Amino acid sequence: MAQTPFYRLPYGARRDLLAQQRHLTVDQLAQIASRRRAGDADLIENYLTTYGVPEGVAVNLRINGRDVTVPMVTEEPSVIAAASNGGRLLTSKMGIITSVARREVMGQIVLSHVDDRTGIKAWLTAHQEELLRVANAVHPSLLGHGGGVRSLRIRYIPPHWMSLDLFVDVGEAMGANLVNTICEAVATYLKEHLTVNVLMSILSNYATHSLATAEVAVPVNQLATKSVDGATVAQRICDASDFAAHDPYRAVTHNKGIMNGIDAVVLAMGNDWRAVESGAHAYASRHGSYQSLSRWWIVGETLRGELTLPLALGYVGGATRVFPLVTINQQIAQVTSARDLMGVTVAVGLAQNLAALRALVTDGIQHGHMQLQLKSLALSVGATPGEVPAVVGRLRGETQPTTAQAKAALAAVRAANLKK
Ligand code: MEV
Repeated sequence: MAQTPFYRLPYGARRDLLAQQRHLTVDQLAQIASRRRAGDADLIENYLTTYGVPEGVAVNLRINGRDVTVPMVTEEPSVIAAASNGGRLLTSKMGIITSVARREVMGQIVLSHVDDRTGIKAWLTAHQEELLRVANAVHPSLLGHGGGVRSLRIRYIPPHWMSLDLFVDVGEAMGANLVNTICEAVATYLKEHLTVNVLMSILSNYATHSLATAEVAVPVNQLATKSVDGATVAQRICDASDFAAHDPYRAVTHNKGIMNGIDAVVLAMGNDWRAVESGAHAYASRHGSYQSLSRWWIVGETLRGELTLPLALGYVGGATRVFPLVTINQQIAQVTSARDLMGVTVAVGLAQNLAALRALVTDGIQHGHMQLQLKSLALSVGATPGEVPAVVGRLRGETQPTTAQAKAALAAVRAANLKK
């Protein structure tokens, strides 16, 4: 008799099979059981349990003249502290200024083995109005909400492809399903009217038509540390910024720091962080080499900074509907539209970047991270939340505490507790 495929097995049978094959202990099964969440089994295939990631809020952020508290979901200890720290450094009347020039999602219909490049291009150009009409007929409600397919572009990509790009104003939605459906409808129309080989129809995550920008101007004296004056810190931040524009090895880490903040907000807001990640790194390579996404420079007594990246975030639909925390997070951040959300997110990215660069060019990154790293080291060796402060206290004297030292510190704390 054919075996039932794994995905068809009921939950308990799948879990038991896994437990048996991978020798999961009773304790491990209890962990899995305690994290199970009603409803999550309908979200993905082969559901086992729910992997919780901590959520916190970044404070001190002033964005477009408004104080904003930003929910962030991350497992990295220093991220929220750095965003809040960056926000504090950037405090001024308006704080971080953000802008979103337009917000359109691009879909592409890819034609393959195009042998009559000129002929097909001429046909598509001549039928632009018709193609836009077909595309806009797919979701008439989109037009009702002020959105719709705005324009199209034709690109020949050697040796034999042609991409018909549709630019869609998706309103407040993320728009992935919407754009995919529209592209498929246009592809069907093309196949009916032309002899073409449609390779695929899909949105593009390279959201160059949904760029978000954050800009700041901060008096250099605001950047001083205990040991370095503000003008020197600002100079060194600019040098670090220039270096990241020239060296891809540094640029990747520089951008990773920015994405620490951006991904954490994107996740808290129920959006697709993989889409944002891949778009951001493609954008970082737009000049032909991989470069930093942000730029810092000095004008007089002021450090200026700017960050632009593709950020096609949605305020409604998709996972925003699925996770109740998203609505709460939108309320905490007081975002009421997709553009608001894009602005807050890019602002956090810039604050995050400034905090990282300032630490790197002054005391070094480990200095500020140590307290948080000690906490996570203590947790990683099994300290309970009640034991963490005592374990951290014992590790504080070490410059590079190891897991073995953390285990020893925990054992010592427990032994001391027993004596009490
Ligand atoms: C660590 O997660 C992020 C940093 O490496 C970013 C940077 O180097 O700019 C500190």
